[in-house]
Amino acid sequence: MKILILGVNGFIGNALAARILRDTDWEVFGMDIREDKLDLCQGNTRFHFVEGDISINREWIEYHVKKCDVVMPLVAIATPATYVREPLRVFNLDFEENLNIVRLCVKYGKRLLFPSTSEVYGMCTDKEFNEDESNLVLGPIRMQRWIYSASKQLLDRVIWAYGFQKNLKFTLFRPFNWIGPKLDELTSDPEKEGSSRVVTQFISSLFLGEPIRLVDGGLQRRCFTYIDDGIDCLIKIIENKDGRLNGEIFNIGNPNNEATIKDLAYKLKALFVEHSSAKNLNRSSEIIEVYSKEFYGEGYQDINFRVPSVKKAKDLIGWEPKVDLDTALKKTLAYYFDSNPKPEC
Ligand code: UGA
Repeated sequence: MKILILGVNGFIGNALAARILRDTDWEVFGMDIREDKLDLCQGNTRFHFVEGDISINREWIEYHVKKCDVVMPLVAIATPATYVREPLRVFNLDFEENLNIVRLCVKYGKRLLFPSTSEVYGMCTDKEFNEDESNLVLGPIRMQRWIYSASKQLLDRVIWAYGFQKNLKFTLFRPFNWIGPKLDELTSDPEKEGSSRVVTQFISSLFLGEPIRLVDGGLQRRCFTYIDDGIDCLIKIIENKDGRLNGEIFNIGNPNNEATIKDLAYKLKALFVEHSSAKNLNRSSEIIEVYSKEFYGEGYQDINFRVPSVKKAKDLIGWEPKVDLDTALKKTLAYYFDSNPKPEC
């Protein structure tokens, strides 16, 4: 099988490509604007990488959609601070550029595996979000945070419609706060404040000895999913035994790993302090509260809780998440300790 992964250097892309190369005989064709996370892939004869931007290299992409069996367009901006600061950039990349790829899959009759998002459920009040039943609830237009969710939702609907009217073979998957090695880069640049996802934001603060900031008190909850669990599920979705997964949507999340953002902060701080490389530090990050308006800007609105139902993934794919939250956080933190200079006093 030949798989085209656009955004192969991203958090999901690099882990998926590495696993494919390790465990299957499939070939991976990948494009990305960077290649710093591909150490486990480069050099493998079944890995074909081109450095490039999907909005420029259209011919390369069309040629490879034609050549491959499965197409995974993983290029997207996925950080809430950017939804608020640069909503048009999010729309252009996450919606418009990806729509082109969707249309190429229709043109060449290729199977599309598209990353939807847990964010499409928005402020849905269901205890567990169900792929085929739950309502998708977004805030007012002036709250720019929802442009990502709305862009992804519209693409989900367009893909669904292409399946319905033009027989496009597709599977949509919705990651729920996946975490793990290579999530986001740690940054000390104040310009990039809030520009990574919460786990890496907190780890950055711990490394720098700066305060960990809980937005609006940190009582909002998320279900954190370890990357290896997510990748196990994606591999099975790519395999698609008997074509059973065509036309289906799957939540890929860990309902057992629910925590408030405040709990997350205290857990990460405790794990950081216990780590051997931080043992002699005579400083530690304070945990403070900040207002979302100051942290993200006026156009931000939060999601107070989101728990995935993973019953469908269990029934149709035979997949269940295994890694508990403490283990997931330990492994994630260990990666950042291994790949960054030792924090200094
Ligand atoms: C994320 C992003 O939209 C996407 O990466 C993705 O589609 C989706 O979730 C997912 O992975 O399922 P969200 O969970 O809101 O959305 O993003 P985070 O930046 O990880 O923030 C989680 C929570 O922590 C939010 O309530 C945020 O306000 C809070 N937070 C974040 C803090 O309290 N402090 C910080 O420094 C950063």
